[in-house]
Amino acid sequence: MLDGRRILLVISGGIAAYKSLELIRRLRESGADVRCLLTRNAENFVTPLSVQTLSGNRVHADTFSLTDEHEIGHITLARDCDMVVVAPCTANLLAKMATGLADDLASTALLVTDKPILVAPAMNFRMWGHPATQANLATVKARGAAVIGPNAGPLAEGESGVGRMAEPAEIAAAIEGRLAAGPLKGLRALVTSGPTYEAIDPVRFIGNRSSGKQGHALAAALARLGAEVTLISGPVALADPAGVTTVHVETAREMLGAALARLPVDVAVCAAAVADWTVSNASKEKRKKQPGGPPPVIELAPNPDILATLSERGSARPQLVVGFAAETETVVEHAKAKLARKGCDWIVANDVSPAVGTFGGDFNAVHLISQAGVEDWPRCSKADVAERLAWRIADALTGGHP
Ligand code: C5P
Repeated sequence: MLDGRRILLVISGGIAAYKSLELIRRLRESGADVRCLLTRNAENFVTPLSVQTLSGNRVHADTFSLTDEHEIGHITLARDCDMVVVAPCTANLLAKMATGLADDLASTALLVTDKPILVAPAMNFRMWGHPATQANLATVKARGAAVIGPNAGPLAEGESGVGRMAEPAEIAAAIEGRLAAGPLKGLRALVTSGPTYEAIDPVRFIGNRSSGKQGHALAAALARLGAEVTLISGPVALADPAGVTTVHVETAREMLGAALARLPVDVAVCAAAVADWTVSNASKEKRKKQPGGPPPVIELAPNPDILATLSERGSARPQLVVGFAAETETVVEHAKAKLARKGCDWIVANDVSPAVGTFGGDFNAVHLISQAGVEDWPRCSKADVAERLAWRIADALTGGHP
């Protein structure tokens, strides 16, 4: 049931918009307060009057945004709700979400919201299969949005394929499932993500190619399952995931300090690519080139190992400690050795050879290594790896055995 829950339903311009009327009815029957936002194109498929009548709330649309801004700003609209549902989501609106465009009320609301987003795509099967749409989908998922459908079947144009919007009953069930208390409710999670930067001088640093996509997606997935999540992020070009407390750090020492400050937690996942060494002779001033002189010598000292430190914290040890292993050869063997060396419970191992494109890319093929053995997971998006791992963590914590 959705008693007292407020849903912002964004309806974009596709023939499936007629099914959104049924979705509104179902959500209201479940007790939800539904506010609707129509794109300009959506008004070609459903009328604001029918949406307004069914939802029992004033409809928000670009065509009357002048009055709306007086009564309720788009920021309030997008934040004063429990979930934003985009149904139907056209290829165009998905592309706007992926690129962060904000050129109408719907895209602006989606850019400004800090609430969980559920997307129900609907489009021609060729548009759905286009690499651009699939890349946009992977981006939107990696930022934490959940996606339902599309389903296979006959499409409006007389063709058939994958592109039909999920049925209103399926979408309503997904909303209820996500807004119900998740399996990780009441549990605390810590996730490290991204690279660390170790300063050489005020303008130069030693870093690495980690994008943070996998760790950020995992933090968002754990939060969706109800955990209270702290994400400790090195310098990345990603938005802070919704529903997560994000702490920004730069160096490995800062990352360790921030991690220890959050203990106790129930689960810690170290997905960050932490620099193994810091620069022990970092200069406070920018190092100058000496004409004709020798290049400067950079001296390195080992950084603390955050994963190993968390794994040995005695009584403050998280019940489950998960590490990542980025390897370029004999991935599983190296990861097994790492599991033993670091003292963690699981290692998620992935191949980061340049040919595989894991670093910075949207896809990942991982192996889950524990005392119980090795599981080979199929190649899928980082968002899907995160979702699956989050559920495994939930099973381990609620079933009692890592
Ligand atoms: O030893 P290696 O860097 O390959 O181990 C990778 C795993 O250890 C990752 O989970 C990473 O987040 C973690 N790690 C860490 N602190 C370090 C080095 C690695 O937490 N200083």
